[in-house]
Amino acid sequence: MAEEKNIIMRTENLEIRFPLKKNTIFLKRKYVHAVSDVSVEIFEGETFGLVGESGCGKSTFANATLGFLKPSGGKIFFRDEELDVKNKHKLRLQRNDMQKIFQDPSTSLNPRFTVEQTIGEPLRIRGGSSRNEQKEMIADMLKKVGLSENDMKRNVSDFSGGQKQRIAIARALILKPRYLVCDEPVSALDVSVHAQILNLLMDLQGQLGITYLFISHNLASVRKLCDRIAIMYLGRIVECGSSQAIFSNPLHPYTMALISAVLDTSSDSGSKRIVLRGDAASPIDIPEGCAFFQRCPFAKEDCKKLSCELKEYEKDHFAACPFINKK
Ligand SMILES: Nc1ncnc2c1ncn2[C@@H]1O[C@H](COP(=O)(O)OP(=O)(O)OP(=O)(O)O)[C@@H](O)[C@H]1O
Ligand SMILES: [Mg+2]
Repeated sequence: MAEEKNIIMRTENLEIRFPLKKNTIFLKRKYVHAVSDVSVEIFEGETFGLVGESGCGKSTFANATLGFLKPSGGKIFFRDEELDVKNKHKLRLQRNDMQKIFQDPSTSLNPRFTVEQTIGEPLRIRGGSSRNEQKEMIADMLKKVGLSENDMKRNVSDFSGGQKQRIAIARALILKPRYLVCDEPVSALDVSVHAQILNLLMDLQGQLGITYLFISHNLASVRKLCDRIAIMYLGRIVECGSSQAIFSNPLHPYTMALISAVLDTSSDSGSKRIVLRGDAASPIDIPEGCAFFQRCPFAKEDCKKLSCELKEYEKDHFAACPFINKK
């Protein structure tokens, strides 16, 4: 019998838009359409990758799943319970099980705090444990992230970038979350520590069984870490599938272009390098039809008009292009 997968995070036609200031009261208000009609399911214990170029809506999507943004449309469910940003009490309880690691630990952590204060703060805010119990939990977490109990009294500012990210990971994990957003967790760090931090995240997932939403521009890391991947373009998911399927058989022209740009032509996709023309359309005036039309090397006249819904092309592998297999 097929293994049942529990869904931990689910969005249903999620829409997030930000209003722009109006220059005059006579003009219709315009919006930045950061996330449009996104329906995804993230399974308990997996690493779900979210990939796409800068400004396509990855962080907005991630922040919405943490209850930081009110959906302009659609719904978000955490373990089958809807995230309701108006219900502050319930949201606080749900948030105890969710955390985020930021891109740059030098700005996300207070440099004047000691390591003990930094990691212990969420425990103090939650309450319900004595100082000694908190100290024990912090010491244990420090070991898990590859630091030492002796580091507790040192100031955060004394540590290197990679060590600061370890402290940030310890702080994020101290309340034992089940869902962790890793929004470009190594891109602000020296290249020499990227592998160490990514390996640490993988080890911790193995030990603690946490679900990761992993956002990165580095496709090689995404391929290594993620079980499934969603490719985002201008706020929409254009392809979603297992890491293996996406890299060995990319279906959407945008995915093909992303993969061909980073992996050499001898990769298992076997495809030639696809160079994208021009820039992405503005998220303020999203064109009708396929949003990728202007840059797609396979574009046809019809693509200007056809709406591109995600369809399943092979088992659990979805893409949003009506001309797949017809290119
Ligand atoms: N608070 C906000 N107000 C207005 N527009 C916003 C706001 N936050 C994000 N945006 C816009 O929404 C779009 C998506 O932004 P987002 O930060 O989610 O992109 P991203 O994919 O995370 O990019 P990057 O890879 O550079 O981090 C962008 O056009 C951005 O300018
Ligand atoms: Mg971002």
